[in-house]
Amino acid sequence: MYISVLWQLVLGTLLVTTTRASRDSKVRRNNETPPSNFVTTSPDGQFMVNGSAFSFVGTNAYWLHALNSDDDIDRTLQNISMRGIKVVRTWAFNDVSAIPENGTWFQLIVNGTTTINNGTNGLQRLDKVVELAQKHGIYLLLSLTNNWNPTIFDNANTSFTPLGVLRDATNSTNVTLPRNTLSNDYGGMDAYVRQFVSEEILHHDQFFMNQTIINAFTNYTTNVVSRYTNSSAVFGWELANDPRCNSTVQSSGSCTPQVITRWHSTVAQSVKEADPNHLVSSGNQGFFCMDCPKLFPTAVAPPPRPSPAPDSKRRSLPKALTKSILLQERKEARKRTRKLQKRSNPRASGIRIRGNWVATPTRRQDDTFGVGPAFDGSQGVDSEDIINIPQIGFGSFQLFPDQNSYGVDDPNLPAFNNTVQQGLDWIQRHADMGKLFGKPVSLTGFGLVTQGNAPFFVPFNSTVAPFGPDQVPESGTSQQQPFGVTDAQRDDAYSQWLNAGLINGLQGMIQYQWAQDNLTSQEGTAISPSITESGLSPDQTTTGLSPNDGYSIQGVGQEQAAQVIQEAANNFAPDTA
Ligand SMILES: *[C@@H]1O[C@H](CO)[C@@H](O)[C@H](O)[C@H]1NC(C)=O
Ligand SMILES: *[C@@H]1O[C@H](CO)[C@@H](O)[C@H](O)[C@H]1NC(C)=O
Ligand SMILES: *[C@@H]1O[C@H](CO)[C@@H](O)[C@H](O)[C@H]1NC(C)=O
Ligand SMILES: *[C@@H]1O[C@H](CO)[C@@H](O)[C@H](O)[C@H]1NC(C)=O
Ligand SMILES: *[C@@H]1O[C@H](CO)[C@@H](O)[C@H](O)[C@H]1NC(C)=O
Ligand SMILES: *[C@@H]1O[C@H](CO)[C@@H](O)[C@H](O)[C@H]1NC(C)=O
Ligand SMILES: *[C@@H]1O[C@H](CO)[C@@H](O)[C@H](O)[C@H]1NC(C)=O
Ligand SMILES: *[C@@H]1O[C@H](CO)[C@@H](O)[C@H](O)[C@H]1NC(C)=O
Ligand SMILES: *[C@@H]1O[C@H](CO)[C@@H](O)[C@H](O)[C@H]1NC(C)=O
Ligand SMILES: *[C@@H]1O[C@H](CO)[C@@H](O)[C@H](O)[C@H]1NC(C)=O
Ligand SMILES: *[C@@H]1O[C@H](CO)[C@@H](O)[C@H](O)[C@H]1NC(C)=O
Ligand SMILES: *[C@@H]1O[C@H](CO)[C@@H](O)[C@H](O)[C@H]1NC(C)=O
Repeated sequence: MYISVLWQLVLGTLLVTTTRASRDSKVRRNNETPPSNFVTTSPDGQFMVNGSAFSFVGTNAYWLHALNSDDDIDRTLQNISMRGIKVVRTWAFNDVSAIPENGTWFQLIVNGTTTINNGTNGLQRLDKVVELAQKHGIYLLLSLTNNWNPTIFDNANTSFTPLGVLRDATNSTNVTLPRNTLSNDYGGMDAYVRQFVSEEILHHDQFFMNQTIINAFTNYTTNVVSRYTNSSAVFGWELANDPRCNSTVQSSGSCTPQVITRWHSTVAQSVKEADPNHLVSSGNQGFFCMDCPKLFPTAVAPPPRPSPAPDSKRRSLPKALTKSILLQERKEARKRTRKLQKRSNPRASGIRIRGNWVATPTRRQDDTFGVGPAFDGSQGVDSEDIINIPQIGFGSFQLFPDQNSYGVDDPNLPAFNNTVQQGLDWIQRHADMGKLFGKPVSLTGFGLVTQGNAPFFVPFNSTVAPFGPDQVPESGTSQQQPFGVTDAQRDDAYSQWLNAGLINGLQGMIQYQWAQDNLTSQEGTAISPSITESGLSPDQTTTGLSPNDGYSIQGVGQEQAAQVIQEAANNFAPDTA
């Protein structure tokens, strides 16, 4: 009751009031009570499988369907399973604007028309991934499109080419990534937009607003999701990776969080209709739009959750996030760290903002930074509104500190500690949101770039390698810091984040990214030609590595990180791991 009153106050205006009862009946009509080994949710916000609560650690292998060899898929899933990992997030889209000579493609999008490929180099590759996941007891979280689809960028020439299929990753070199690597190129939202609308209205948010494009997309999603309605290897559907207003194609001025929330509602309904058996989630980064009017306000407080773990010091009933709560929390946190810092390291100075060292900010900067882009709705995402859409089964968010800002750096903390702390806070906030709204929440992608991985780092939307050294030496040293954290720092951060997720009640955490060696190199797959630090491998005919976008934890020196994941997988699912 208290929550409900508070929420209405926070909301300010009463929009469409949908009662929980009427929403539930809508969901129930769609829900044919799937078999017990399908993933469902309980009223207290947990995943359920076989009548028991199910929580998990997962990994991302978006490239699985692009492998030409069934043995490769089989071996990869077997290796993943041997680590105790239960969920694999992977792409269920592969859009092209011309039929490629070699390799997998799922949908041809050209000149305002779409053609779905259900042949042996089409959706039958995804069938194989699903079949082999089943074999290894792995659940697949399948993404239906991508926000990102960058165009070719020749970093040596610093100029764009109109081909729109390849891009460079490394400064002053010309390492072009092959098809089927990261968002380069599986198509995605901009692939639709570029092929559907004319130059004058070429905006990324056409994808969310234009009925013709929405019809084309739901045509695709209906086709794909209805293939697997009866498969218990599907964990659920993710509407898009990182949906937001902007991409390589810029947004128009009129894209707001409500536009994106409405799109989620439309597409989630369509997916649920075609496949009532599986959960649907968003796939967004978890950005907040605090104090924004909601399309899906909660009218009734969800039932209380079981009491939190005994060592959790947090309040048990979280409040909806508002600007004043957030700013107050930050102020208090800083008071604590200032005291600590005075005691331990009075000389420390300088903070790192998005990789660059700047002088210690004065206290006044606390305010001028505002709440930051993760909280102000400027990305066009309101994850609190999206999680309350009736057909959205669980909340999702991501954590990539090298690509997004999740808060304001605390001037009393060293750069690495800020990164860790912001991750911890981000995890806490999203776990709280799940408790507040009675739905499970999963971190569906997290990663930190290490110094060793920096040369491979390909941000979703970057055409310039971001991994230059910090511009100012760390205080007390004369040495420039290389981009990225050390392996040990990465392992420390992962371990703290995974632990925080477990303690605070996240229902799943998916590490980015799995890497697999000894894959068969064939024309048109993600691993051919394999990419090495110095460029393309001259040997395109034998074996190769799966793509490393800067987050790989396989190979020499990476065993410790893999251990951290494996241990967490055990802690999340002590009975089944
Ligand atoms: C659920 O039960 C099925 C059939 O008995 C089994 O194969 C599967 O591993 C179980 N899933 C979990 C997560 O326990
Ligand atoms: C397709 O594969 C064939 C046979 O491996 C190869 O000769 C050809 O160059 C490939 N085409 C492209 C565009 O990669
Ligand atoms: C694209 O479609 C339009 C209208 O349907 C047609 O006039 C035009 O010739 C097509 N262009 C190409 C390149 O197919
Ligand atoms: C839906 O997909 C089918 C199969 O590829 C295609 O023939 C049809 O044109 C598509 N319809 C729309 C509205 O995009
Ligand atoms: C592919 O889709 C077409 C059109 O819907 C259908 O006629 C055909 O039987 C399908 N082929 C396979 C192998 O599923
Ligand atoms: C970089 O690669 C692209 C695509 O292969 C090629 O067209 C371009 O000429 C290359 N640029 C340089 C400077 O080598
Ligand atoms: C939606 O896209 C179609 C082309 O597919 C275009 O003709 C139409 O003008 C667009 N609608 C709006 C409102 O921009
Ligand atoms: C993505 O990259 C393109 C090309 O550099 C740029 O124009 C665009 O502003 C970027 N978008 C975002 C959201 O960073
Ligand atoms: C989109 O990108 C442009 C250019 O980078 C920027 O000016 C604008 O604020 C961005 N809008 C959103 C909603 O992120
Ligand atoms: C920063 O993080 C390191 C590693 O987790 C830790 O040992 C150290 O105490 C932290 N420093 C502060 C000021 O929190
Ligand atoms: C990238 O290359 C440009 C041009 O060669 C150079 O000016 C710049 O300093 C380089 N940046 C990094 C981070 O190495
Ligand atoms: C590499 O892959 C081949 C073919 O799948 C397999 O026979 C071989 O055992 C693998 N080797 C290693 C070291 O995994």
